Amino acid sequence: MIVAGNWKMFAGPDPRMLAERLAGVDGVDAIVCPPYTELAACVEAGLTTYAQNVHWEPEGAYTGEISAPMLLALGVRGALVGHSERRQYFGETDAAVARRARAALAAGLGVIACVGETQEERDSGDMETVLRVQLAVIREECGIDDGLVLAYEPVWAIGTGQVATPELAQEAHAFIKSLLDRPVLYGGSVKPGNAAELLAQPDVDGALVGGASLEIDSFLSICEAAARSRS
Ligand code: PGA
Repeated sequence: MIVAGNWKMFAGPDPRMLAERLAGVDGVDAIVCPPYTELAACVEAGLTTYAQNVHWEPEGAYTGEISAPMLLALGVRGALVGHSERRQYFGETDAAVARRARAALAAGLGVIACVGETQEERDSGDMETVLRVQLAVIREECGIDDGLVLAYEPVWAIGTGQVATPELAQEAHAFIKSLLDRPVLYGGSVKPGNAAELLAQPDVDGALVGGASLEIDSFLSICEAAARSRS
């Protein structure tokens, strides 16, 4: 069970206080994905820390980017790639996402690669095609790498309060695993109140939490639900 908190462009909770509280929770790998300015503080606090993105080159003229060796030197253990906000607002393509993932894995970082369909794609019956394409490119670049974790994040569920039903999440996760057999986290409006039933699904291997990871109490309660779900 993995619970990753994506702080996005928010300062997030105090890393030391979060680390102290997480020390009391067994049976779950908790990860934080803070903004770049908080990476060092999270590492120093002893949190398993992932960046929110990573470039495919080790260095170069790529303004605004960060490389895998730079993250490793800071003690960062992995990175998100392909979050829908990156795809939506910053034009990240499937090919760029897969290159980022490959370089990070090759450098020894863990990777959480996000996939998911928009409402429009779901309504027009294209959900499986979208997932198939997103995953095919990742699979082609990365293979079935041990460091790779996937996150199913239906875009219509992110930050909307409109969570996928447990049945719908289970169905999508099973489909994703049939294409690329790695652990799959669910993301999109995961809250303390809905985490247990989502995490009870056999193919839901954890959660990628946005808004609810910004408060220690709500993030802790989701981590505890994850720990209970497999005990
Ligand atoms: P949310 O975000 O939990 O606020 O819906 C999830 C995510 O974007 O990873």
